[in-house]
Amino acid sequence: MAKPDSFVTSFRSAAPYIHTFRGKIFVIAFGGEVVQGGKFFNLVHDLNLLESLGVRLVLVHGSRPQIEAKINEKKLPTEFVRGLRVTDSEILKLVKEANGSVRVEIEALLSMGLPNSPMADSDIRVASGNSVTARPMGVIDGVDLQHTGVVRKIDVDGIRRRLEDEEIVLLSPLGYSPTGEVFNLALEDVATSAAIALSADKLIFLMDGPGFLDKRGKLLSEITAQEAEAELAKNNKQPEDIKLYVPCAVRACKESVGRCHIIDRNIDGGLLVELFTRTGIGTMVTRDPLETLRSASIDDVGGILRLIEPLEMEGILVKRPREQIEMEINNFSVLDYDGTIIGCIAFFPFQGERAAELACMAVDPGYRNLGRGDTLLKHVEVRAKKSGIKNLFVLSARSFSWFTERGFSETSVDLLPDSKQKAYNYERRSKVLVKLLTGKK
Ligand code: ARG
Repeated sequence: MAKPDSFVTSFRSAAPYIHTFRGKIFVIAFGGEVVQGGKFFNLVHDLNLLESLGVRLVLVHGSRPQIEAKINEKKLPTEFVRGLRVTDSEILKLVKEANGSVRVEIEALLSMGLPNSPMADSDIRVASGNSVTARPMGVIDGVDLQHTGVVRKIDVDGIRRRLEDEEIVLLSPLGYSPTGEVFNLALEDVATSAAIALSADKLIFLMDGPGFLDKRGKLLSEITAQEAEAELAKNNKQPEDIKLYVPCAVRACKESVGRCHIIDRNIDGGLLVELFTRTGIGTMVTRDPLETLRSASIDDVGGILRLIEPLEMEGILVKRPREQIEMEINNFSVLDYDGTIIGCIAFFPFQGERAAELACMAVDPGYRNLGRGDTLLKHVEVRAKKSGIKNLFVLSARSFSWFTERGFSETSVDLLPDSKQKAYNYERRSKVLVKLLTGKK
């Protein structure tokens, strides 16, 4: 039996995601490999679950291995230009066949009742059709790529209508031209174009491997589009999937897509871990950094209290009732990580004196020792210097050495500004520390 504690904790932390994902559009792209070897079966459960939570799903499948197999079977000669297959009319026939059979396979699996599973009664309706208009890729390096094409337009209205009718939309890497021609497309082109056209909330690529790794093989768990581009330029020795998917994720984020994820298709349930936990399992690409330092607003009071209450109980911070924080909220700055307050600091200038007090500094235990305290302190110092403050005080009962290592030194209570001296709590025996701020900024 699952330990109640860990179950309750995971379920509670998933709840905000369940809430935000309702009604959102996710485009999920995967290569034809996922449909081989029975892997799609596991994925179906998870797609089913997402659907039942009200997520609007657009699936984009690939069919490269299936096309490859058919070409090999027929022993047809094929030509590549810069990694792109030339699709002549013989090959186009095989492309259509391969896509047809992959699509049927997916539709069959999505239609399957899920016996012996809690999702047994949820039936999924799949819509596939001619939502992608394409144009020929044309001539590259003097070679005509014939029926190899690129996406020209996505039928946004049609797709949206189907999603509103609670259908799953399935797109194949095929496109049609207004004159009735068929084009062989890249799945990542279809997925990215669809995600951008629909302003999808997420674009998710399932890949063969854990995600985007840095030079030392460490997973880049979250990265901005700009950082991802730089990383790719720095280190181009990446698996094929990464070379294909990362630029697409970058493009999508720079346009209108909320977040892009690249995750391991070989991990059962990986999609759920990525979506319903804070740290995920693969690489998440976003346009802006997830962590920001900003002035606090009244909505942050709850988050601030959650951070400082444990420290107050330990006697590290002085008790501040909720009402006081509400009144002083303009003096607070917070570190916001994806909507959660993970750090706070307050700054109180003393009227008429060139002094200020730094107070109420806290960092969430899960984020300590990573320099966030320094970020907060620096922020207050910059703010203080801007308002002409010379002496920055802090009253600290326990974190004495942390502050002395950062240029504070002990001083006596008498040197505190008058108003503060009166309020000084002798019982708590805090040390009074001061830092002399010099320089412009
Ligand atoms: N579950 C969250 C989301 O879907 C966060 C995922 C974070 N993933 C990561 N690889 N860092 O938006």
